[in-house]
Amino acid sequence: MCGIIGYLGKGNAIDIVLRGLKRLEYRGYDSAGVAFFNGGDFEIRRCKGKIRDLEALIQVSLNSNLAVGHTRWATHGVPADHNAHPHCSDSVVLVHNGIIENYLVLKEELTSLGYQFTSETDTEVIVHLIEHFHRDMPLEEAVREATGRLHGAFALVVVSRKTPDMMVGVRKDSPLVMGISEDGYFLASDVPAFLEWTRRVVFLEDSEMAVVTPDGYRIVTFDGREVHRSPTTVDWTASMADKGGYRHYMLKEIHEQPSSIANTLRGRIDLSRMAVNPGEFMLPDGLLTSINRVFIVACGTSWHAGLVGKYMIESLCRIPVEVDLASEFRYRRSLISRGDLFVVITQSGETADTLAAQREAKRQGAFTLSICNVIGSSSAREADAVFYLHSGPEIGVASTKAFTSQLVALYLFSLLMAEARGQIDSSLRRQMLQDVMGIPEKVEGVLKRESEIEEMARRYSNSKDFLYLGRGILYPVALEGALKLKEISYIHAEGYPAGEMKHGPIALIDEQMPTVFLVQAGELRRKVFSNIEEVTARGGRVIVFKSEDVRDPIPSAEHIFEVPRTNEFLEPVLMAVPLQLLAYYIGVRKGYDVDQPRNLAKSVTVE
Ligand code: F6R
Repeated sequence: MCGIIGYLGKGNAIDIVLRGLKRLEYRGYDSAGVAFFNGGDFEIRRCKGKIRDLEALIQVSLNSNLAVGHTRWATHGVPADHNAHPHCSDSVVLVHNGIIENYLVLKEELTSLGYQFTSETDTEVIVHLIEHFHRDMPLEEAVREATGRLHGAFALVVVSRKTPDMMVGVRKDSPLVMGISEDGYFLASDVPAFLEWTRRVVFLEDSEMAVVTPDGYRIVTFDGREVHRSPTTVDWTASMADKGGYRHYMLKEIHEQPSSIANTLRGRIDLSRMAVNPGEFMLPDGLLTSINRVFIVACGTSWHAGLVGKYMIESLCRIPVEVDLASEFRYRRSLISRGDLFVVITQSGETADTLAAQREAKRQGAFTLSICNVIGSSSAREADAVFYLHSGPEIGVASTKAFTSQLVALYLFSLLMAEARGQIDSSLRRQMLQDVMGIPEKVEGVLKRESEIEEMARRYSNSKDFLYLGRGILYPVALEGALKLKEISYIHAEGYPAGEMKHGPIALIDEQMPTVFLVQAGELRRKVFSNIEEVTARGGRVIVFKSEDVRDPIPSAEHIFEVPRTNEFLEPVLMAVPLQLLAYYIGVRKGYDVDQPRNLAKSVTVE
């Protein structure tokens, strides 16, 4: 998982590529490198570390019309200068995102032909392979020949010393998009890399190449067929993809939630009927009434959203829902059929396991719906239907605003299906839509009390372990709270259904360990109160996040944070926000880089 960028044009290619790399740093950040044409040859600078370490090696004032850059998240070979990209052979220079599965076989073959390897990366086989073909053929053909020999996932930007006014982009199971500005062309892993210069974009499909010269570009398939695809204009702005005055992207994205949720809702509700607009989910007529079962498949935070979705859909639509982790689903001999609706939830739309699960479901005949944030991503393009979150680019590695938008998307979906299946009367539907329309303001209200959470973080940041407990629809939110904390602060945290506490986790409780309880109104709250008593009886420390509706006194809690009243299906949205803030402030207090936590990458495009 890496970020790649190439630029060819009249601008300062070195500066453009470095700036683009900073936007891509969320994809990987253990090493970085650029190669630029200096008028006579390509110069390469690369190093272990962050983009700022790379900058120290480069004179940005140098003039160049063509440069490629890379920010790395190691898969083959430790983070080290010699493993950093770009990699080069005699004439070929390239950057790669993905994994070459047959690299060992190719390495053996190329070594026997006399090619020498200087890194432990899988990427180096690509550069020598292209070089091999490029001896007798132009770059475009050499790249085509070489890609025919590669197994795995790869997005590439390739340049050659023989034709230094050309770059070739390749896309196979790893994302690559082309940007077109007045002054030049960009090839990059993601749109924010070039948003500062252009919003005109051409999304490459799998098994396509873009051949770019100063005179224009051509898109051709791996088998040489020309493709005509007009650019589209994305509605993201450069400022949406920068920190906007916040200390970290994560904090900015947490604070964006009133507007990102509003964007997810925008246009989705028919206000005259007070009903979800059926067209927004792009589902064929009759599908929602004919299906027998819903599958939801995702990874990580998106999986937690899926678990919340199960509570919503089963309660409101009375249809069975199975939720699975994509990495499990794809290798299980799952029983899925034509009568099933297969929903994948993915912020990036590029998560390898999620995509594989989606393809498997499609192969087995299920109708696939992708709930996705990134426009034109692989999941969105391959699904039978897409619901875009429209929550804007999420740069912080830990997912925050995409999660709450996913919850809202699933809520809308449940209401649409409940209506289609005659499971909800119009007055409840109206009320529930009013409730969701009020959520942005309520999130705003929670954010205004950020200082309470900061104080909580101060008190607990030295804890070594945390337990997060919730019941029912708040159980997946407990999982999410624990995941956020461990990702950002490296504190061990476990999420559990509160009812399971006695079946094991209670053994962990001592005077040091904080237990975070999530409590909503309803009869089950009393059972959670019993759990709270059990924790305090063992000297444990209790923090409670509860709905305003819960009026009972909770004397044994050290902290109580109240979220505004809403209906039970929307409480996960309001609870998620303070849990995100808690993880954030603890991570910051511990001095960690919360936007780029160790070992993590934003978009997990490899298994
Ligand atoms: C956690 C996080 C990850 C992602 C997961 C799936 O903060 O960001 O757990 O949720 O990698 O990513 P997407 O949603 O892009 O498929």
